[in-house]
Amino acid sequence: MKEELSILIQAQYPLIYLVTSEEERSEQAIANIAQTLKPQPRVFLWTVTNGVVEYGQPRTTQHNTVSPEAAIEWTIRQKEPGIYVFKDLHPFIDSPPVTRYLRDAIASFKDTHKTIVLMSPVQHVPIELEKEVVVLDFPLPDMKELNRVLSRQLEDGKNKRLTTESREKLLKAALGLTRDEAQKVYRKAQVTASRLTEAEVEIVLSEKKQLIRRNGILEYIEEDETIDSVGGLEELKRWLCQRSNAFTERAREYGLPQPKGMLILGVPGCGKSLIAKTTSRLWGLPLLRLDMGRVYDGSMVGRSEANLRNALKTAESIAPVILFIDELDKSFAGGAGSSDSDGGTSSRIFGSFLTWMQEKTSPVFVMATANRVERLPGEFLRKGRFDEIFFVDLPNQEERQEIFKIHLSKRRRDIDRFDLDQLANVSDGFSGAEIEQAAIAAMYEAFAQDREFTQLDIIAAIKSTLPLSKTMTEQVSALRDWARQRARPAASSMAEYQQMEF
Ligand SMILES: Nc1ncnc2c1ncn2[C@@H]1O[C@H](COP(=O)(O)OP(=O)(O)O)[C@@H](O)[C@H]1O
Ligand SMILES: [Mg+2]
Repeated sequence: MKEELSILIQAQYPLIYLVTSEEERSEQAIANIAQTLKPQPRVFLWTVTNGVVEYGQPRTTQHNTVSPEAAIEWTIRQKEPGIYVFKDLHPFIDSPPVTRYLRDAIASFKDTHKTIVLMSPVQHVPIELEKEVVVLDFPLPDMKELNRVLSRQLEDGKNKRLTTESREKLLKAALGLTRDEAQKVYRKAQVTASRLTEAEVEIVLSEKKQLIRRNGILEYIEEDETIDSVGGLEELKRWLCQRSNAFTERAREYGLPQPKGMLILGVPGCGKSLIAKTTSRLWGLPLLRLDMGRVYDGSMVGRSEANLRNALKTAESIAPVILFIDELDKSFAGGAGSSDSDGGTSSRIFGSFLTWMQEKTSPVFVMATANRVERLPGEFLRKGRFDEIFFVDLPNQEERQEIFKIHLSKRRRDIDRFDLDQLANVSDGFSGAEIEQAAIAAMYEAFAQDREFTQLDIIAAIKSTLPLSKTMTEQVSALRDWARQRARPAASSMAEYQQMEF
């Protein structure tokens, strides 16, 4: 990316929008780029508090350049090559004089080796400038840059000798953090353990988890259950198992494409979220949950986009990673194209997300679940967006047996005491979650009477439950009809799947 920025400046692009919250790091990068250029431009920084100040020089404001208009006008008057970094111009950029001055600047910069860089954590470009500006994302530090941070921290400490592997583990653990954050995390690990070795990887990781959670949009999920705790869904399991090594170097050498993502659709309470979470263990990859609801922020124009962008940037820098979006349908309440009350924010967000999915090259596997198809914008369901769309139906007789078995064993009960066949029969139409609840209800009943629970307690609990599939028959059958045409059943065998019409 730094190369990209450098190329754009060399190619005399007049206006570059750099989206970043790491001001100091990006300023340094720009200053470094400037030093390699011929003719070498001077670098100036503008803020609304200080006006225009030359980078690396004592803080003396260039004559009367505090107002954005005056500052831009000042850049137009400069004769020498220069890079003018405007920090946080976004709140002012919509004012007609500012937009106009920027357009004038762009026109006058032709063949002058002058460039304006708009640096801001929020991307907001007025329509008048859309065609003239190039938007770049300043990426989070890579291993090489983190290595410099780590080395500096190691110099401060006592232990300087680290094996290459230990070093790599410490670096990997900090991927996804900004430079300042990485610095803090390494420092904290060193202070806590009074050393910084491979043993401190855990401290670094747990600090990272907290930092990532702090923005409220991404969350590290650690699921203790394995895929064996999911009953049924054999076809889906097989698909996932087959891809256990899909993100290895070996798979690339073999010529396999990187899996992009999957969508799991289906009846609520049938194990969609559960199986998604267990994939993390199965594949040995971290799982980050993206909370789409929290991406929305009405406080400022462009804030929601910036939230999404930051979250995706973090995910990419941790890749290979699974990006888990649970209940995707809920985040697009109005669907695309509908001009809902949010002024089109949700369709814009959804557009940027799809574009990202389309263009991403980093190994971020998107794992989305949804309960209702009619709420999902059609573009999501089009072939090729996801590698596969699976449909999770209510468990059949055999699957219900398996689910009972899983939940009774999980509660350390001897399953031979139970007639699983009968339990599966009476629980026809129950989801996995409802089966689990029935078992728990039976346990409560017996526990209150100070005795062990039995087959009869479970049957009684089942009989007193009205399953969702009965109260929402229409919805379930509509979903089934839809899925029959377009999705792959998570439970059935390949043979049945191939018999289906497409
Ligand atoms: N197929 C299943 N096998 C085992 N447990 C299940 C299954 N389906 C649901 N459950 C139980 O119900 C809980 C809720 O299921 P969940 O995965 O959240 O359903 P969904 O995401 O499809 O609505 C799970 O955590 C698990 O305990
Ligand atoms: Mg769920």
